[in-house]
Amino acid sequence: MRVCIVYDTKGGSTERVARAMAKAVGGIAKVGVFGVTENPDVERYDLIVIGAPVYYERPLPEVKEFLLSKNGLEEKAIAVFILCIADKFGKLGKKYTERRYLRMMTEHIRGRIIAVRVFDGWILREDPKTIGEAENWIKRVLDAFKSGEELGIEHPEGE
Ligand SMILES: Cc1cc2nc3c(=O)[nH]c(=O)nc-3n(C[C@H](O)[C@H](O)[C@H](O)COP(=O)(O)O)c2cc1C
Repeated sequence: MRVCIVYDTKGGSTERVARAMAKAVGGIAKVGVFGVTENPDVERYDLIVIGAPVYYERPLPEVKEFLLSKNGLEEKAIAVFILCIADKFGKLGKKYTERRYLRMMTEHIRGRIIAVRVFDGWILREDPKTIGEAENWIKRVLDAFKSGEELGIEHPEGE
């Protein structure tokens, strides 16, 4: 199976998470990792994983442009993730990330969304918990894809 991981980043944490995911499943799938401006040919892949960090109340806009340019990844299986800090602010923070940030990604997707995930981002010091959760999540995403299941929306563990 071929997996395309597409990310955007400013500070590098979303790229770090994307690459950790690629490494985690590199032994069980063919994985390509691309910055969103590299404009990968998504037709060559079975599953598209797309991730963005949130800046000033919205996922970086290049991701939306990418989705629109690919016709919303119509007829593809897609897993979506974001990095942000709002999820740290309790139940209200989680609701907010779903209603606002995640929706600003998913509303442009026309394919089949099989998993949606919020990760705690960081600014200076890498968060090892996020890396571990990303490695675990992508493995479960691939399992879900293979068995035709969906994972739904998930948030950082234990908060
Ligand atoms: C200038 C700035 C603005 C940010 N704005 C938000 C925001 O509006 N909401 C939020 O939840 N996180 C916000 N964050 C946190 C980022 O989403 C988080 O640091 C993320 O890991 C950055 O990803 P990147 O390193 O891939 O660019 C902001 C961070 C910075 C530095």
